[in-house]
Amino acid sequence: MHVASLTIRNLDEDIKQNLRERAAQNGHSMEEEMRLILASLDQQDTSLPKPASVDVPRLNPFSSEVLDGKQILLIISGGIAAYKTLDLIRRLRERGAKVRPIMTQSAQEFITPLSVGALTADHVYTELFSREDEQDVGHIRLARECDMIVVAPITANLMAKMAHGRADDLASTVLLATDKPVLIAPAMNPHMWHNKATQRNVKTLREDGIHFIGPEAGEMAESGEAGKGRLSETMSIIAKMIDILDDRPKPLLGKTAIVTSGPTHEPIDPVRYIANRSSGKQGHAIAAALAELGASVKLISGPVNIPDPVGVDVIKIERAEEMLDTALQLLPCDIAVMVAAVADWRVAGAAGEKIKKKKGQSVPTFDLVENPDILKTVGHHAKRPALVVGFAAETQNLIDNATAKLKRKGADMIVANDVSPETGIMGGDRNRVRIVGHDGVDAWPDLSKDDVAMRLGKLISQKLAEIVV
Ligand SMILES: Cc1cc2nc3c(=O)[nH]c(=O)nc-3n(C[C@H](O)[C@H](O)[C@H](O)COP(=O)(O)O)c2cc1C
Repeated sequence: MHVASLTIRNLDEDIKQNLRERAAQNGHSMEEEMRLILASLDQQDTSLPKPASVDVPRLNPFSSEVLDGKQILLIISGGIAAYKTLDLIRRLRERGAKVRPIMTQSAQEFITPLSVGALTADHVYTELFSREDEQDVGHIRLARECDMIVVAPITANLMAKMAHGRADDLASTVLLATDKPVLIAPAMNPHMWHNKATQRNVKTLREDGIHFIGPEAGEMAESGEAGKGRLSETMSIIAKMIDILDDRPKPLLGKTAIVTSGPTHEPIDPVRYIANRSSGKQGHAIAAALAELGASVKLISGPVNIPDPVGVDVIKIERAEEMLDTALQLLPCDIAVMVAAVADWRVAGAAGEKIKKKKGQSVPTFDLVENPDILKTVGHHAKRPALVVGFAAETQNLIDNATAKLKRKGADMIVANDVSPETGIMGGDRNRVRIVGHDGVDAWPDLSKDDVAMRLGKLISQKLAEIVV
């Protein structure tokens, strides 16, 4: 089912009451709650894109570089969401993009060329018949001297003009004259979006190869209105731009990888567990890096307090035995990177009920049993991945321990790091690793965990290429 537009004050009283209670329970305003309900309805409708307002992508830390130095021609047309474009300009410039703005006549009713000019640090182009800008047929230059064109927001009117090849102002003329990729971010009242004429234009533009982002479902700027028509979130627009512009080589395209990350929790009873200080930051960064290099990545994560990486399938587990089962189910694959700090032991026969403290009784004691060795099991498995990488977190004899581990576990490479508390590596954002391989040890400098991940990802691509050859 899809709800095009809804006004809360027109709802039946009992539905309104229900919405009020639900909103109060979830700590939302009624409008926010309605927006989420509409968004989840839209999610069930497979013909519609997932609403970015509910699931705003976090940018992959490695992908922002795609925008660095890129020339973006940004067309702003006359919709109420034009004010959000000011934020888009800032975020694009933060990522090193150069933004050249064109504003339609109507756009200038909503935001001023002064703000746009100040934020882009460029001339704001508004006129087709400009004596200043057209001395050298400036509209053709604008259309060509860029890496891509983004129209945000695009009005129903400008989409109609594009779909029909009209060129009666600077924005529409440039859009007709360009040979660059064009991304449009529609934003309008839901009735305008669902209007048959608009939908005909959408179809035409899609067939013409125009890229779309949004619109999303949610609350409208007009009071009490909700439905499909919101401008996509800034980061969603940027993620889509990166998708379109990204022409970096993907050496792991077609390869599959499993990565384990984080600690495991081994239960003592239903409310207590044995854990360790692993944050998951390094494992999650490696999963993101492998995905960025083109691999299809499954990340098996223990309990962590960091966001899931972009573009990666995340499987959440708690115990070491669950981590092993999941890893084995995911074989065969090309690459396994075992980063998780798996608990060596678990409590034998963990209690089914909370262990109570009883007066006069001695403190409980626990028998520990060894957990399965996930790296070793995968390293010696009949369906062993072509490349198996393990981690060794040590506080003493780093290289000796890592070298012994390399042989014992059947790994191709061990990434060894000193996790003594004074290094700050466990839980921190930086890492200093030694790569222990069968052909020697390579000491890497102190790097951010993201940089370690990307460097390791590239090394994995190289090693895999050597094995395959
Ligand atoms: C207050 C107000 C808000 C508007 N908001 C939108 C909007 O969000 N989306 C849209 O497609 N049109 C909207 N319009 C209508 C456009 O401004 C109108 O179609 C205009 O001709 C578009 O010109 P342009 O496409 O050249 O920028 C709005 C109009 C007004 C008066």
